[in-house]
Amino acid sequence: MLNTARNSLQRNAANISAAASRNSSFWSGVEMGPPDAILGVTEAFKKDTNPKKMNLGVGAYRDDNGQPFVLPSVRKAEKLIMDRALNKEYAPIGGEGDFCKESAKLAFGNDSSVVKDGRNVTIQGISGTGSLRVGTAFLSKWFPGNKVVYLPKPSWGNHTPIVKHSGIDVGAYRYYDAATCGLDFAGAMEDIGKIPEGSIIMLHACAHNPTGVDPTPEQWKEMSAVIKARKLLPFFDMAYQGFASGDVDKDAFAVRQFLDDGHNILLSQSYSKNMGLYGERTGAFTVVCADKEEAARVESQIKIIVRPLYSNPPRHGARIVTEILSNPEIRPEWLVDVKTMADRIITMRTKLQDGLAREGSVRNWQHITDQIGMFCFTGMTPEQVAKITKDFSIYLTKDGRISVAGISSSNVDYLAHAMHAVTK
Ligand SMILES: Cc1ncc(COP(=O)(O)O)c(C=O)c1O
Repeated sequence: MLNTARNSLQRNAANISAAASRNSSFWSGVEMGPPDAILGVTEAFKKDTNPKKMNLGVGAYRDDNGQPFVLPSVRKAEKLIMDRALNKEYAPIGGEGDFCKESAKLAFGNDSSVVKDGRNVTIQGISGTGSLRVGTAFLSKWFPGNKVVYLPKPSWGNHTPIVKHSGIDVGAYRYYDAATCGLDFAGAMEDIGKIPEGSIIMLHACAHNPTGVDPTPEQWKEMSAVIKARKLLPFFDMAYQGFASGDVDKDAFAVRQFLDDGHNILLSQSYSKNMGLYGERTGAFTVVCADKEEAARVESQIKIIVRPLYSNPPRHGARIVTEILSNPEIRPEWLVDVKTMADRIITMRTKLQDGLAREGSVRNWQHITDQIGMFCFTGMTPEQVAKITKDFSIYLTKDGRISVAGISSSNVDYLAHAMHAVTK
């Protein structure tokens, strides 16, 4: 009897002390953060029971049955790698040399003098995001000019947090014209012309996210000239090489033009979209330097940044990329795979535009086929977005952006019907 009472007292004391320690937790002051804008759309989509529901928020390619797609060339490369029974030792801090060399050649071209002269420092990054993060960390420590990165308005939602996370400020230049759903070229040129000399400018190499609006080759040349005149450092984010037009060389036009014009650019590359390696986190970061000696110094400092961040990058994705780019049998197959994805997206754009015309929409939907890449900035207002979600279970971000990769032959007419219904 006495023992039972004593045990009960001890239990109560333990409970009280656990509650007290909870109240005085180190984390009691941690505030709830807002949900991620895009992942929030997916969460809402998952809860919807409408069999016709569509998720056009997520930026990942789907096949015409709405399923995730592993490229046949990737499967083939993986099999070859498996057969070699490679070890799982650490990669070097900057990743495997062959991967870096192949990545630079893919971006700059096989005959690039930058690569031939050894003026590029290219390291393997944790996909595009990680490459941008290392790049901005390098800028934060070593950029001698005005440490502000100017972003197009709007830009990929993660650009601002990545830049700020590295302790650098962001500015903006006009880019998208809501009236035409196209490029505000005059606005962009005017704003870029006023960016303080010696600052950093972020450029989407192709398939601008979120707008799908790219400058023409002539406009890129003009932008290159004004960027040169302002002595700005161009930082290219190339997350969609090959995915925009289906041609990896055409999509690299801007990057190569800037090199031809004498810019020593920074470059982030991602293999998430063009090789479908989303979860393998495979990409590259490059600094183009004045000469080989400068490149060696820059490389040493990038390694010093990487080492305490993640020590060295993962191997599997890099091995796949190296195999695809360097194997003369698989490389052409990959180029076909990229084109297959790009063409399916371009076909869906045309079908959506045709569907809207068939529905009797009198709005100008020309921008659906003018825009390029995974995303289309439809021009739908936040109210129209809310209505299309409520009435038709079609999910997209509030800014009216749809992932064209999420549309298929079986639901494109439903989407056209719904878009007409909320915009007429
Ligand atoms: C413009 C842009 N940059 C970079 C990325 C980085 O993607 P990841 O980290 O998957 O390579 C994305 C992905 O959506 C993007 O759209």
